[in-house]
Amino acid sequence: MSIIDPAIAVQRLPRHVAIVMDGNGRWAEARHRPRTFGHHEGAKAVRATVEACVRRHVEVLTLFAFSSENWNRPEDEVGTLMDLFMKAIDRDVDELGANGVAIRFIGDRSAFAPALRDRMDQAERKRPAQVRLNLNIAANYGGRWDIVQAARRVARGIADGGIDAATLDESVFDAHTSLADLPPLDLFIRTGGEHRVSNFLLWQIAYAELWFTDVLWPDFDAAVFDAALADYARRERRFGRTGQQLRHPA
Ligand code: IPE
Ligand code: IPE
Ligand code: MG
Repeated sequence: MSIIDPAIAVQRLPRHVAIVMDGNGRWAEARHRPRTFGHHEGAKAVRATVEACVRRHVEVLTLFAFSSENWNRPEDEVGTLMDLFMKAIDRDVDELGANGVAIRFIGDRSAFAPALRDRMDQAERKRPAQVRLNLNIAANYGGRWDIVQAARRVARGIADGGIDAATLDESVFDAHTSLADLPPLDLFIRTGGEHRVSNFLLWQIAYAELWFTDVLWPDFDAAVFDAALADYARRERRFGRTGQQLRHPA
């Protein structure tokens, strides 16, 4: 039986969920297998999570697939991850599109091989007519990079007269960040037991609810996801107000 109560589900569900998919390496090491085996298994958990989001009517799922710091890993592990991206795009994009999943990559893609960049562009162009889920894959992404690239675009806007520096505010700045056109981030999940953000969505996390689990990413499934959603549904999001104000609006 699902632990999500269908009566409260709709208005208490997050519209936008982000996940730091951590723990692939440790999952494999515990099985005396190479770390790359964990990444292969992790790709299966990605598919299950996308399906769970579609089922639960989550509108946006943003996944941390490769951080700007992950280039520091051994060359063969980085190579395996790049191969996995290519294969996953080749294998899954058409089916995702047919199921109403619109894909977008966020991050600095200039560092990727041209063949992979082409695949990313093609995947983004296959946007379904009826979007059921916006799937953002963060690849060579860093939260600081996102803020800096927004600042660069704002600076260009000021230089060419499109933006007035005197009226630059949070909403103008926000409009230049990677996920600006999508609903704000509601729920930030990290698997793998670490309680850190690792330079993921720094700007967007400002008022997100945080949820951490020791479950390693390859073991993440619909039941763990539902546990996160159920916990989120119990949270009181006050945005600076008092609980009293929320319960008895003036
Ligand atoms: C997350 O799992 C996947 C990527 C960073 C690409 P890890 O590979 O970080 O797994 P652990 O944290 O070493 O177990
Ligand atoms: C964060 O995990 C990046 C991804 C999940 C893609 P890491 O395993 O790279 O994070 P740290 O190094 O433990 O902070
Ligand atoms: Mg890790």
